[in-house]
Amino acid sequence: MDKPICNKSLEDNVLIGKNIIVGICGGIAAYKTPHLVRLLKKRGANVRVALTEGGARFVSELALATVSQEPVYRTMFPPANTAGTDYTRHISLGEWADALIIAPATANTLAKLSAGLCDDMLSAFFITLRPGKPVLIFPAMDGQMFLSPSVQRNMATLAAQGCTIISPESGELASGQCGLGRMPEPDAIVNSLEKALHYGGKSSPLYDKSVVITAGPTREKIDGVRFISNYSSGKMGFAIARDAAKRGARVTLITGPVNLETPFGVSRIDVESAAEMHEASRKFFTSCDLFIGAAAVSDYRPASPYEGKLKKNDRELQLTLVQNPDILAEFGMQKASGQLAIGFALETQTGLDKAREKLATKNLDLIAFNFFDRLTSGFEVDTNILTLIERDGVTTELPQLTKDAAAARLLDAIEQLCPKTGINP
Ligand code: CTP
Repeated sequence: MDKPICNKSLEDNVLIGKNIIVGICGGIAAYKTPHLVRLLKKRGANVRVALTEGGARFVSELALATVSQEPVYRTMFPPANTAGTDYTRHISLGEWADALIIAPATANTLAKLSAGLCDDMLSAFFITLRPGKPVLIFPAMDGQMFLSPSVQRNMATLAAQGCTIISPESGELASGQCGLGRMPEPDAIVNSLEKALHYGGKSSPLYDKSVVITAGPTREKIDGVRFISNYSSGKMGFAIARDAAKRGARVTLITGPVNLETPFGVSRIDVESAAEMHEASRKFFTSCDLFIGAAAVSDYRPASPYEGKLKKNDRELQLTLVQNPDILAEFGMQKASGQLAIGFALETQTGLDKAREKLATKNLDLIAFNFFDRLTSGFEVDTNILTLIERDGVTTELPQLTKDAAAARLLDAIEQLCPKTGINP
């Protein structure tokens, strides 16, 4: 079973008296937003709604005005000759708000916000919101649209500006197909907002912690032009690094050869072989607070790589392989109290028991069992299905999620472990 992310007292209190703008765009999930507004009001928040033209096609302005007990904001300009109308309300409301939620966020609105366009009240609020206020964006659309390069690029731009993009869930879509694209349920949205308001800035248990993450594949030289490697893309490790940096951690990413941009605020060390990854990692073993092994490290390397290019001849070629050091196990065995060791177990068969075994033998605090199936989970693909197993046996099965969302859930679980090991600030 999935565990709640926050403790009860936090959930009860953090929204009381907070001013929240809910931006609603034109997606079918908009029909759930009166319930979302109602939940926020019930938790004690003051809510004002910014509804786009598309949003108004899916949900009634009257319903939203009724549940929020406020007029709904739509166009930039009030009707001409309206006496006493506040023509600068987009600025005063931007100042008023403690947080902005955009749910559902459409591809069109993501494009507008990332480009800085400002032609309705929602985009105007977005621009006038005070720096440092949480902006939570919940894209909801068809799965193919969500994964399209332009939507991904616009989300990356908004994330780099400090917005929190919460990936859609997978399930049945309006098109009748199943896949990624569903907006999370209103109570999950409220939960994310509470967490953002609570953990924003200094209060994440990961704030200012030193987090070292290994990522990507390693390459083990056979000769000067050939190597042994695997299909790892590095996406999972990079997603964890990006999210940990957003939570205020000091992140070092030790990565094998991958084709990925360094996440904002992350310090990156490029390596090629397992031996180099081992060497680079060891330098942090005593100083880091958290070591996360997300790399697909080659277990073996050719015993004596050939200097130049190995030439073919008529005989069979025998390669002798020797074992590489197990980087994570070495950290796990020598970690001091207060340091956390987190690993992955990529298994092609039903491998929960195997994952539990790795958790114990490598002395880890948490292991993410990563079921390998080339379409939905594992190397190269953009989604993952993880089961998180903690040292005390607590097991959390996550649904199929984007690697960004899976990384966030993994870090949520790690944050919960921090107080238990004394690394809470
Ligand atoms: N790992 C590591 N160094 C290695 C091998 C693995 O740091 N030489 C780490 C991985 O980054 C991962 C965890 O150990 O977090 C488990 O890796 P995995 O490949 O699933 O398991 P192995 O221990 O290599 O065992 P096997 O290949 O037999 O499944």
